[in-house]
Amino acid sequence: MNIMHLYTIGKELINNFMRQHVNPLSRNFNEIERIPFLIEMFGDPKLKLHLDIGCASGEFLFDLALVNTSWNYLGIEIREKLVKTAKLKLREREIKNLYFVFGNANNILSDVNNEFIIEHLKSISFNFPDPWFKKRHNKRRVIQPEFINILSNSLQKGSLIYVKTDVRDLFDYMDLTISSNLNFKTIDKRDFSIVESFNPNKLQTNREKYVIDNQLNIFERIYIKI
Ligand SMILES: C[S@@+](CC[C@H](N)C(=O)[O-])C[C@H]1O[C@@H](n2cnc3c(N)ncnc32)[C@H](O)[C@@H]1O
Repeated sequence: MNIMHLYTIGKELINNFMRQHVNPLSRNFNEIERIPFLIEMFGDPKLKLHLDIGCASGEFLFDLALVNTSWNYLGIEIREKLVKTAKLKLREREIKNLYFVFGNANNILSDVNNEFIIEHLKSISFNFPDPWFKKRHNKRRVIQPEFINILSNSLQKGSLIYVKTDVRDLFDYMDLTISSNLNFKTIDKRDFSIVESFNPNKLQTNREKYVIDNQLNIFERIYIKI
């Protein structure tokens, strides 16, 4: 192990220590926030809708919303403080194509009252979700077979799911979970148009910037609802 590798591991440990992990299975998240109707969330509810699950402080979504004004962006995040800060910033800047919801995305999107959101989505991203390395904690991972089943039942045909992580084991797990659902298939590069996607300028999330700075691997895949 060389000095650079040790340095990267050290930085990673400090990073993880400073970041408060939240147990999504805690009863604190049983009570869920109702997602308002599209007309209440966005200036123009007819724009294409993208959902980012685990959006943290929402910086990536602020960047996207400012550049791509022909899309609406919705972020769900389980750390309440981050969502409060994002909502305050949103109000100050008067951005009309962005909205944040606090809570466990699994509970929120499993609620029948929020089914309309899934039905209106053009795409969903899972950017660098928490890996929950220990086997007994795997149930806390945001991508679960039942959750993918809910998405597959309500997403329109042609909707996309984007998955990105720097953890190989987590990538394999997410890939197997999504691919095992027969309503999704990996998208063929020839059928994918970046300019028509939610992120035509390839903007990066905070975690992605960190991973690139530290020359770590990124594993990613896009799935289409068939
Ligand atoms: C490693 S961070 C990545 C943040 C951001 N997507 C990025 O790429 O920089 C994972 C985020 O997902 C959030 N999260 C984890 N489980 C969640 C869940 N079930 N519902 C909503 N957010 C969740 C965490 O609180 C954290 O902010």
